[in-house]
Amino acid sequence: ASQDKSDLRSPICCILGHVDTGKTKLLDKIRQTSVQEGEAGGITQQIGATFFPKEALIEKTEVVNKDGSVDVKIPGLLIIDTPGHESFTNLRSRGSSLCNIAILVIDITHGLEPQTIESINMLKMRKTPFIVALNKIDKLDVTEWKVNKDTGFRDTLAQQSKRMQRMFEDRLQHVKMLLMEQGLNSEVYDKNPNPGRIVSIVPTSAVTGEGVPDLLALLVKLTQERMTGSLMYISEPEATILEVKVIEGLGTTIDIVLVNGFLKEGDTIVLCGMNGPIVTNVRALLTPQPMRELRIKSAYVHHKQVKAALGVKISAPGLEKAIAGARMFVANNADEEEYYKDLAMDDLTSLDKFVQKSGRGVYVQASTLGSLEALLVFLKDMKIPVFEFGLGPVYKSAVIRSSLMLDRAPEYAVMLCFDVPVTFEAEEQAKRDGVKIFSAMIIYHLFDAFKKHMEEVTE
Ligand code: GTP
Ligand code: MG
Ligand code: NA
Repeated sequence: ASQDKSDLRSPICCILGHVDTGKTKLLDKIRQTSVQEGEAGGITQQIGATFFPKEALIEKTEVVNKDGSVDVKIPGLLIIDTPGHESFTNLRSRGSSLCNIAILVIDITHGLEPQTIESINMLKMRKTPFIVALNKIDKLDVTEWKVNKDTGFRDTLAQQSKRMQRMFEDRLQHVKMLLMEQGLNSEVYDKNPNPGRIVSIVPTSAVTGEGVPDLLALLVKLTQERMTGSLMYISEPEATILEVKVIEGLGTTIDIVLVNGFLKEGDTIVLCGMNGPIVTNVRALLTPQPMRELRIKSAYVHHKQVKAALGVKISAPGLEKAIAGARMFVANNADEEEYYKDLAMDDLTSLDKFVQKSGRGVYVQASTLGSLEALLVFLKDMKIPVFEFGLGPVYKSAVIRSSLMLDRAPEYAVMLCFDVPVTFEAEEQAKRDGVKIFSAMIIYHLFDAFKKHMEEVTE
C-alpha cells in the first residue's frame, strides 16, 4: 500500500455507551451546538461525524494544559457519534470498526447498563484502546454541586463541599468495581500509573463542561501515543456511506466517512445501489464547517481534495439509488472498477439471509442499511418472517407486492417503514387493498406498533 510518511492522518474516535448517557450532549458541549435537542425522541438513530481541527483541539484543552505537556501533533480528530439504543447494535459495531480509539460514556448516577457492557465487549474484541467518560457529575446532586463551567475536573472537584467530594468518591469506587466485574482495571486518568493496561476514567459533565477539557487532552495524548506505524499515515482510500440525501441545488448526495486516503474531485467511485452497483465521478466534495455535525444541514465548504479522516458530502450524478450504510470504493482503472462492483454489492446481498424462502412475511422498508438491518434483526428475534425489503421512499409498487400476502397470510399484509417517506399513491393503494402501513421516525415506536398488531391478529 502506498504510504506517505510525511502525511499524518487524523485519527478517528468513536463515542459509545448506553442510551442517554450523554454522548451527543458531550459533542454538543465541545462544538457549542445543540444537535441533541433536535433529535426525534431525544435519541440518536444514526452515525454522526464531526471534525475537530488541530487549532480547536489546542484551544479547547488550554485550561488543563498550562504546563504545555499536551503537544498536539495530529492534524485533527474525527469523532463519530453512535446511538445507544439497544436496536442499534449494528451501528455501534460499525462505529467501533471505523475507529482508532473510543470514548465509552457511563452515566455516573446509573453505573454500567446493558449497552455499556455490549460496548465494552465490542472494544475488547477489536482491541480498541478506550477511555471512560464518567458523565453527569453535576447530577450527583443538582442543588449542591457547585458549577464551574468548562473547567478542569480537579479544579472543580476541589471546590465542592466535603459531602459532594465523598459522594463522588463513593460513586467512582462503585463504577470501578463494576468495571472490574467486566475484567477491567480502571483509574481516574491523572492517577493512572499505566494507561496502556488500566482504563483511564475522566469525570465529566456535558451540561456544565466540567472535565471536558481533560477528556479532549487525554484523547489527543492517547491517540498520539497509541497510534503508531501505519495507523499514523495516509494510505489507500477507504470510505463508508452514512446517508443518502437530496439537497436543494445539488440533487442526490451521499454523506461518507473517509476513513483513510485522499479523495479528489473527478475521482471514480463505486458503490452499492438498489438495482446493482453504481459507478460515477465525484462532481463536488463538500464538508460542513469544522466542528459541525455532518448529519445536520449547514453551509458547506467546497474542496478540490480531502484527506482522511473526515466526514464528507459528495455530489455526483446517478446517486439516487445509492444505499446508505454500505462501503464506497475509489477505482483507479477499469480493472479496479470491475473488482469493486462485486465487492460493493456484498453489504446488501448479505441481508438476503433475512428473507423467507416461503414467500410469506411482512414487507420492510428503511432509510439506511443500518436501520434496515436493525429492523430485520428485531423481526428475526420476534420470529416474524420477512417477505421482502427495500430502502428509500415507499412507492405504490411495494404496496402491490405486499398485497400478495392478503391471500397467502393476511396477518403479514403489513409494511414496516422506518424513517422513510410514504408517497401519496402508496398510501391510497394500501387503503384500497387493505395493506397496513406502519410508519415511524423512532425505531421502537415501530416495534411497539407491530407487536400490538400481532397481538390483535392472534387474538
Ligand atoms: P443516545 O444517543 O440516544 O444513546 O443518547 P446520548 O448518549 O447521546 O445522550 P444525550 O446526549 O441524548 O443526553 C441524554 C439526556 O441526558 C439529555 O436530556 C441531556 O441533556 C442529558 N445529559 C447529558 N449529559 C448530561 C450531564 O452531564 N449532566 C446532566 N445533568 N444531564 C446530561
Ligand atoms: Mg446521542
Ligand atoms: Na439520547
